[in-house]
Amino acid sequence: MAEDKPRGPILEAVDIYKTYEDGNTRVEVLKGVDLAVEQGRIVAIIGPSGVGKSTLLHILGLLDSPTSGRLVYQGRDITNLKDRQRASLRASDWGFIFQMFHLLPDLNAWENVMLPALVGPGIFGRSMPRRQALKRSEEILDRVGLGGRLLHRPNQLSGGEKQRVAIARALMNSPKIIFCDEPTGNLDPKTSQEIFQLILDYNQTYRQTFVLITHEHHLAAQADAVYRMDDGRLRPAELTASAIAADNKMD
Ligand SMILES: Nc1ncnc2c1ncn2[C@@H]1O[C@H](COP(=O)(O)OP(=O)(O)OP(=O)(O)O)[C@@H](O)[C@H]1O
Ligand SMILES: [Mg+2]
Repeated sequence: MAEDKPRGPILEAVDIYKTYEDGNTRVEVLKGVDLAVEQGRIVAIIGPSGVGKSTLLHILGLLDSPTSGRLVYQGRDITNLKDRQRASLRASDWGFIFQMFHLLPDLNAWENVMLPALVGPGIFGRSMPRRQALKRSEEILDRVGLGGRLLHRPNQLSGGEKQRVAIARALMNSPKIIFCDEPTGNLDPKTSQEIFQLILDYNQTYRQTFVLITHEHHLAAQADAVYRMDDGRLRPAELTASAIAADNKMD
């Protein structure tokens, strides 16, 4: 049957290097990262602060360029796309969730969430009609538990609620991959688990793929695959119960 066929990865990074050069300083952050993200999986990346996790996520999401290496999305080499094509791909196929939420302060929850549909997919693509965007935004906000907060602006929402709005916004264009950089980094443990549960729900219901950076190893342990970044490379991480306890003290 078709669904039993093994598929290639939806996103692949091959031998990625990234060096920051600034005058006399030269920082080699990524030194040969290989990563294959399978369709419909949650891939977690852990590792100490400053090791290059965000740098890698930005490169995977075409928000930054590698010094060398290759990126392949759905079998197509996307390493050297022009800015316009990168923006178009990000808007049509991908969603982003960051630790600091990055909501627009003057827009309410409803408006923040529908924004990607009004500007996307792609700067030259067609945007969603406003009525449809309003309806979809309301449905997603309802699904993430914020049906009663549509008209609240970010400063009228708690941290967990703001992150739910950011998740809803990331889901607005039905992305195939959602890149998350410490999505629960600013939240208390109970809210973190609730937010992670939303990610699990969307992954299971819609088979959406997640690439997730986290310092919370008990959350990473719930992913399908976990990698640790260390000395500029990624290695598979084993997260046993005792390792989770020990690692949490280290990070
Ligand atoms: N634009 C830049 N120019 C120069 N150096 C940079 C730049 N961005 C990041 N770095 C350096 O690259 C390294 C990796 O940074 P990165 O933000 O990827 O780390 P991280 O693993 O995400 O850390 P954290 O867990 O604290 O978020 C750091 O040493 C940082 O100082
Ligand atoms: Mg980071």
